[in-house]
Amino acid sequence: MEYIVKGDIAYNKSLNEFESIHNGYLHVKDGKIVKAMKSLPKELKKKKLIDYTGKLILPGMADLHLHASQFAYKGTLMDVTLLEWLDKYTFPREAAFKDEKHAKKAYKVFVDCLKKSFTTKAVIFATIHLEGTYILCELLEKAGIDAYVGIVDMDRNCPDYISQTVEGARKDNIELIKRLKDFKHVKPCITPRFTVSCTDPMMKMLGEVRKEYGVASQSHLDENEEEIAFVKELCPDAKSYTDTYDRVGLLDHSVMAHCIYVTDEEMKTLKEKDVYLVHCPESNTNVTTGGIMPVRKYLDYGMHVGIGSDVAGGSTLNLFANLKLAIQLSKVINHGGRNNYKPLNAKEALYIGTLGGASYFGKAGSFMEGYDADILVIDDVKGDPSSMKFGIEDRLERLMYNANESFLVAKYIDGRKVYERK
Ligand code: GUN
Ligand code: FE
Repeated sequence: MEYIVKGDIAYNKSLNEFESIHNGYLHVKDGKIVKAMKSLPKELKKKKLIDYTGKLILPGMADLHLHASQFAYKGTLMDVTLLEWLDKYTFPREAAFKDEKHAKKAYKVFVDCLKKSFTTKAVIFATIHLEGTYILCELLEKAGIDAYVGIVDMDRNCPDYISQTVEGARKDNIELIKRLKDFKHVKPCITPRFTVSCTDPMMKMLGEVRKEYGVASQSHLDENEEEIAFVKELCPDAKSYTDTYDRVGLLDHSVMAHCIYVTDEEMKTLKEKDVYLVHCPESNTNVTTGGIMPVRKYLDYGMHVGIGSDVAGGSTLNLFANLKLAIQLSKVINHGGRNNYKPLNAKEALYIGTLGGASYFGKAGSFMEGYDADILVIDDVKGDPSSMKFGIEDRLERLMYNANESFLVAKYIDGRKVYERK
């Protein structure tokens, strides 16, 4: 499949390299980007042209952290701290996914909404249940959304009705890995909920399964000070919260949500282990006693930073809303200049939402040659025709502050159109 997409193209080549082309052309072949260019060479003039003149053409966004099973209650039940929130609201609701009929219904709503969002790549928590998790994987695969999905493992500090045995969790994880072997879009991900929820034998077993099958892994890290103190109590022999994952092989090239209260020593380890740190700004301002990730500090240190909606800690799948908040919080955390953290700008925010996180999936999140053809076509002029006089950079900033999902005209993943606005 080969075609050309025409429109106002913007993308990052790296954190500090931003490209934009007014009335540009994007050459797509076999699900990959060939090239973004200013004009169409003669030999391409006969190819199929999809004309989105006047629309913004951006790389698809990566939601590096969200809980599909929590989608139904996003935007509610935010009146408590993290650990209370889990006990009181989350565990009973996740337990309902034992019922496959419930899982089918709830995950269908979730995947339908994800299809209409700006997200093309996602790293997802399901629940403790194998069958429910597999149902979610099938729906994502059918929708053509690239995702890592994990059974959420837990065997302590949770009610019996949502607790596994180490052996049961081992079998279920291996079974999911086997069932996903021939999936094109969905891949398994070892997912200890967080150290608070997993005994040492559980963590050790998950590390072994990960090593044996060579799969991805994800978890939560340093989200809340109460959580961190609890981990210290539970794992007195670990060097740090980060070490509780590292010592069992669950840190290396993993995705770690939140990473707010990271010590200098942990920071060093996270960089050495090539970890993807997920900024979940909306969640961190909802689930009380969260905090603000020092994004600038991590970027300056050369670490991977992506964005996460963290539904239902976060109330929306809209990653532009999260990037807007990331920009705003980068100013708040600077604390009137006292912290010397340069605020993020819109181009850097776009990087975090695209290439910064999507590179966990390989060549994704940009329009450089050989990258996955994940393309968003966005009507940013909606309701304001006068705005065409703005340049692409200004339009990008304005989009970040204003976008909702009705701005999305079409979405392509791996070159295939998965959504089109009616
Ligand atoms: N830490 C452990 N589980 C969760 C969860 O479901 N959401 C959030 N935000 N943090 C967690
Ligand atoms: Fe989370």
